[in-house]
Amino acid sequence: MGTYVTHRSNDFGMGDKRITGDGVVAGWGLVDGRLVYCFAQDFTVFGGTMSEANAKKICAIMDLAMDNGAPIVGLNDSGGARIQEGVLSLGAYADIFLRNTLASGVVPQISAIMGPCAGGAVYSPAITDFTIMVKDTSHMFVTGPEVIKSVTAEDVTFEDLGGAMTHNTKSGVAHFAAADDADAIRHVKRLLSFVPGNNAEDAPRRACTDPVDRRAPELATLVPESADKPYDMKDLVRLVVDDGDFFEVHEHFAGNIIVGFARLNGRPVGIVGNQPRVLAGVLDIDSSVKAARFVRFCDAFNIPLVTFEDVPGFLPGTRQEWGGIIRHGAKLLYAYCEATVPKLTVVVRKAYGGAYDVMSSKHIRGDFNVAWPSAEMAVMGAEGAVNILYREELAKAKDPVAERKRLVAEYNDKFASPWVAAELGYLDDVIDPLDTRPRLIAALEMLRNKRQNLPTKKHGNPPL
Ligand code: HXC
Repeated sequence: MGTYVTHRSNDFGMGDKRITGDGVVAGWGLVDGRLVYCFAQDFTVFGGTMSEANAKKICAIMDLAMDNGAPIVGLNDSGGARIQEGVLSLGAYADIFLRNTLASGVVPQISAIMGPCAGGAVYSPAITDFTIMVKDTSHMFVTGPEVIKSVTAEDVTFEDLGGAMTHNTKSGVAHFAAADDADAIRHVKRLLSFVPGNNAEDAPRRACTDPVDRRAPELATLVPESADKPYDMKDLVRLVVDDGDFFEVHEHFAGNIIVGFARLNGRPVGIVGNQPRVLAGVLDIDSSVKAARFVRFCDAFNIPLVTFEDVPGFLPGTRQEWGGIIRHGAKLLYAYCEATVPKLTVVVRKAYGGAYDVMSSKHIRGDFNVAWPSAEMAVMGAEGAVNILYREELAKAKDPVAERKRLVAEYNDKFASPWVAAELGYLDDVIDPLDTRPRLIAALEMLRNKRQNLPTKKHGNPPL
């Protein structure tokens, strides 16, 4: 589209330099037979810089994508705003930002960063749903190393400041790190295989050869008996989903929670799981923000949510409190509360404190909430609870160690099981771990036509 478009500038010698296409290739194609719109900035033409004409081509395919209900993929490799065009190029970016925003929640938007992406240019990928960065060749930053040096006297390299691993591990700006350009395209295609073309479609279903009634004997021993011992939640997920195929999103960021796509009986689902292997699976600022964004994506695009819960609570400490764990934790709570897609929850082990409510509990419209017999559901763990409830008694006790042991055992008898919650109807069932896959598939089938509405409003005001 717009193959022969050129820029209109005559300033700074640009009148003599017109190259058809003006540094961006834009159009549509098929991925797995499904329509996708795409633009790719061409660094070999004016550094892939943004001009009025260049942006018009991008905006045209974004408009088509919205009108026709298909994803937009942007391949970014650009020196940023074309200096010779001045405010025209700034306006060009704003035209794209507006469309990114209007398209959000209407069609999936994916950005691959395959070269420089600097200054205000970063805000287009930032609004899109997923960002893939290519290792060693891509950089994203609002202000570069030279400006940083003059303003804050910090010395930082391009790579440290805004390379692929920086944004995958530290900032969370990027969701995937690709080995090279071809790998980035592979990531885009895999991502597309899980998502619908638009918010009115269901996600694409695949034929499933993994038996729907497959029990997983390994699940009997995966979770250690001691509540303090870790295990890998990803192993659990892989044992449950079709063919063990789990496409992890944000793998390198906030490892205490895992999010990603998988299929159950061929239907795409969004998986959220606390990860006991990292920080005991506690919820903190980064993990709350990571999971909240993922939950909102799945909800916007009709992808059911399956939550595997093993959470000891929120991370204590001044860093978290002063960093705003209250408002960031509330993002995840808000996202789960607001989500109207089918919500399935398996309490694997710990479901403590406010985190119990947050993680797709029955009270916030969980549709199918079950627990394994190993579940522990309480305001807090036994040691902490006994300290608070029996401080004076323990201080006066003849044998404080034995007394503490007795009280902890008494507390665990009451709360270190799913039965109280099950009696109250906060759980729909307590299941044999081996049956997790068949039970989730049956529930998903039952919820196939789920429609639930939110109260009429312009939009909510989540704690951003
Ligand atoms: C016009 C530019 C350009 C720009 C690069 N070129 N950036 N032309 N406007 N912003 C041109 C170069 O003149 C050169 O043209 C060609 O693109 C390739 O650039 P090189 O410098 O030779 O390439 P390289 O050495 O690989 O360096 C790439 C680079 C560097 C790191 C991106 O070019 C650079 O720092 N450019 C400026 C980046 C920048 O500050 N952009 C503005 C960011 S702020 P020839 O003719 O020699 O091939 C911004 C605001 C957005 O974008 C605001 C949105 C709201």
